[in-house]
Amino acid sequence: MSLELRAPHNDRLSLELPVETAQLRTPFNRSIYAEDGRPFSIERNIVQLVENKQSFDTLAQLSNHISITAQLYETLWRRRSISLLSGEDFSLNEEKKLLIDWTGPTRGDTILDVGCSTAFYARNLQDFEPSSQTVALDLSFPMLQKARQKAIKDKVDLFLLQADARQIPFYNDTFDIIAMGGTLNEVSNTAQVLTEIRRVLRPNGRFFIMYLLKSNHWLGRIAQKSSSLAGLHFWTYKESKKLFNGAGFTINRIKTKGIVAFALLS
Ligand SMILES: C[S@@+](CC[C@H](N)C(=O)[O-])C[C@H]1O[C@@H](n2cnc3c(N)ncnc32)[C@H](O)[C@@H]1O
Repeated sequence: MSLELRAPHNDRLSLELPVETAQLRTPFNRSIYAEDGRPFSIERNIVQLVENKQSFDTLAQLSNHISITAQLYETLWRRRSISLLSGEDFSLNEEKKLLIDWTGPTRGDTILDVGCSTAFYARNLQDFEPSSQTVALDLSFPMLQKARQKAIKDKVDLFLLQADARQIPFYNDTFDIIAMGGTLNEVSNTAQVLTEIRRVLRPNGRFFIMYLLKSNHWLGRIAQKSSSLAGLHFWTYKESKKLFNGAGFTINRIKTKGIVAFALLS
């Protein structure tokens, strides 16, 4: 099925992505046009919806545009990240189980992974429910290239968008499930990103989020203070609850492991 987007430069115009865009095993290159004639390119299945291919405004975001970070991200960091950050054993398989159990994908769901990096959440949701239509969105082109390689290996179809989570290129009430792993700590305008997610999530939709809390330990606090210079933010549970409520979400389920929090919002 083709996918309808809201054009990033004018929210009254739409863009239609051909179904071949998501069929990652066949490289797909094309320009698509909004009704006013503005072109957007699709390069090896990745749809470019940002003006500048290298778009970032913090050091943390800059690191995601470096090819080597994208190459090593999942193998070297992501698979151990939750255990290292929480101090408890928690494998990627356990995280995947939590993601699937809490979001409960069903036939024909529309799914979005926001700030997907190598699309760990998107790949697993689409693999669990192949009849769904899954979109993985990130600002970093190298991350999306790596996501494409991994999705091909996993034999899953995904729409890969280079787009900004502060202005999600979809109409209101589009998605049944939205997932976001670790990205809230990194984005430049957290309230705006949450409001955008709320806007594109259907009224009965499920929003699964993994994020990092403020550390209770003095050493952790020092490390988090220094990483705030690179553009990372952390919250206490109470602060994060206020942030979610402010965007119109309520917390249905929450599980914390050290500073790592998993929440299901609706
Ligand atoms: C911590 S990583 C995400 C990890 C990934 N979700 C996972 O579960 O493995 C944060 C990602 O957010 C992306 N990002 C940061 N700001 C963004 C924005 N405004 N819009 C879209 N993606 C953004 C970065 O490029 C980076 O790939």
